[in-house]
Amino acid sequence: MREEERSITAEGVAYARAKHLLYDDPIMFEDFFAIDFLSPRRRRFLKNPLIGLLMRSTLYRHFRPRRAYSVDRSRYNEEKLEKAIAQGMTQYAIIGAGYDSFALRRRDLSDSIKIFELDHPATQKAKKQRLSELNVELPKNLELIPVDFEKETVADALKRSSYIREVPAFFSWLGTIRYLTRDAVFKTLQSLLSLAAPESEIVFDYSIPDVLINPKDLKRFNKNRRLAAHLGEPMITHFDPDILVTEMEDLGFELIENLSPNERKVRYFANRKDNLLPSATTYFAHFRVRQVGRKMR
Ligand SMILES: C[S@@+](CC[C@H](N)C(=O)[O-])C[C@H]1O[C@@H](n2cnc3c(N)ncnc32)[C@H](O)[C@@H]1O
Repeated sequence: MREEERSITAEGVAYARAKHLLYDDPIMFEDFFAIDFLSPRRRRFLKNPLIGLLMRSTLYRHFRPRRAYSVDRSRYNEEKLEKAIAQGMTQYAIIGAGYDSFALRRRDLSDSIKIFELDHPATQKAKKQRLSELNVELPKNLELIPVDFEKETVADALKRSSYIREVPAFFSWLGTIRYLTRDAVFKTLQSLLSLAAPESEIVFDYSIPDVLINPKDLKRFNKNRRLAAHLGEPMITHFDPDILVTEMEDLGFELIENLSPNERKVRYFANRKDNLLPSATTYFAHFRVRQVGRKMR
């Protein structure tokens, strides 16, 4: 990311969630804050009745199959998070939080879970400023921790907060890994392991290498990659799903789930009225921090 600038891709995913709420059917992830984080131009565009007519038209939907780049991953993450909270998880750290609105949407959980949003200082500043413009008070269970992962680790950042290292935590790391160097990804995972108590969990999404992508999807992916690079956030890191599992197990995690686009199609995209599809180049991973001494599968 460029040092002084907020993340453009963070607004991009908020845009995708806002558009989903306005125009997709059925709704798989209800983020009613997303539209408020958009620039006035983007807000006007999405609310334009003519755009609405076009988005809802059968012809448009037929000829323009769309990919749910961020809504299914947020749905997936929050399903896993809710389950963990129901089982007693009391800490939630959002790595590269962007315009994530869980803490704002779920004030009902403010006595049950402490939330730590870690993000690049420029993006976090923009988010705080926007919330202040909207007169939205930060929930009492939310701590914002500015951090540049190319310079500082998750552990160092969390040490500056009220995070309790002896207590298991749920970590989400969505839409961020592909923008970091491989070295920064593994350093972050190692750092996370250095402070996460056993039974902590992590959900993240990642892109797969070109050789595993079919030519049609690769063409679309290359277009998105060029756009992201142009915006100053090049997608530089990709993982082979099988190799990633081995690497994670070697680090000290155990696999809960490594969800492919085809599996998501069945789980989240069956019987849709629109033609929304999962991103064909992204996997979702869910791992647990292994108990010391526990054997792998
Ligand atoms: C595509 S956004 C994803 C935001 C959010 N997780 C979501 O899914 O809506 C990527 C996020 O990674 C953050 N990011 C990118 N590079 C970073 C870095 N070096 N240090 C800290 N955060 C970074 C950006 O600020 C941005 O919020």
